[in-house]
Amino acid sequence: MRILSGIQPSGALHLGNYFGMMKPALELQEKGEAFYFIANYHSMTSLFDPAERRQNTLDVALDFLACGLDPKRTVFFRQSDVPEVAELTWLLGTVTPMGLLERCHSYKDKLAKGVTFNFGLFAYPVLMAADILIYDSNVVPVGQDQKQHVEVTRDIAIKFNEQYGQTFVIPEPQIRDEVAVVPGTDGQKMSKSYGNTIEIFGDEKVLRKKVMGIKMDSRTPQEPKPDADKNYAIQLLKLVAPPDAARDFENRLRVGGLGYGDLKKALFENYWTYFTEARKKRAELAADPDFVNKVLAEGAVKARTLARTVLKRARKASGLE
Ligand code: ADP
Ligand code: TRP
Repeated sequence: MRILSGIQPSGALHLGNYFGMMKPALELQEKGEAFYFIANYHSMTSLFDPAERRQNTLDVALDFLACGLDPKRTVFFRQSDVPEVAELTWLLGTVTPMGLLERCHSYKDKLAKGVTFNFGLFAYPVLMAADILIYDSNVVPVGQDQKQHVEVTRDIAIKFNEQYGQTFVIPEPQIRDEVAVVPGTDGQKMSKSYGNTIEIFGDEKVLRKKVMGIKMDSRTPQEPKPDADKNYAIQLLKLVAPPDAARDFENRLRVGGLGYGDLKKALFENYWTYFTEARKKRAELAADPDFVNKVLAEGAVKARTLARTVLKRARKASGLE
């Protein structure tokens, strides 16, 4: 079984990225042959500063390795080190109906927000389809918001196969229900674009402040809260604390008597402890950029070898060769 996923280098990674995508992806490393990459071509649709892209790319690599990506097992690489994916994007684009892209939630949401579209941003799901199909991927672990893009990938692969004969493997999205949508400090989906994130790594003081700033209602501590499971801090606590401890806090909130400040303090402590090992590892890795570059270079060689085979298959099927 081949497992593939990607993440954009568009800013510091946060708990939504970690629990929605990284942790499930890291756990799958043992279940098959994993290919994980940093989607720097995708980041070009919305980030235009070269230095920032370079820095973010290194940061994502460090974050992933620190969180447990095992480069001995997993092929880890930069998307742009496999330029074959850009050629496949063209081939796939020619069998992609406009309507399929116009129906994408992420397209419609951005349009509604008044985002100015460049062609790359509109064609984003086609590049994502190429990412997935060029490695004959079977399983794609992602958060809920990317599910539709994997479905679009399936549609594109089916169309190409119908048009030119069996060429691509049809992939399946894999989404963990319990972490499908991790809430941010304001209760919306945690996202870089909403400014409501709690990063995996960063300055302790800044992060404590973010956790203490999680939005709460104005009920008094004594008041029982039958909706305790809807509380964002409780939802986050369940991700980072031992299950018994999280359940205990939820019960105390439900019966009344637990103040929101104490709850948020407990959340911060548990979150900080949860990433202690990873934080240590990240500091070690950051001191050794040669190692990180070597991992990405070796990953690129492996990824490219496979990508070339699949691209050749598509070129032959479509009469380019
Ligand atoms: P952002 O919304 O912060 O820009 P991305 O779109 O780069 O995040 O997401 C990278 C990966 O992390 C995707 O697989 C996405 O589904 C997952 N992800 C991001 N935010 C969340 C969240 N709040 N809950 C669950 N998964 C998430
Ligand atoms: N679009 C994904 C995101 O923003 C990143 C991504 C690019 C991806 N290509 C992919 C994820 C292929 C899974 C498979 O999160």
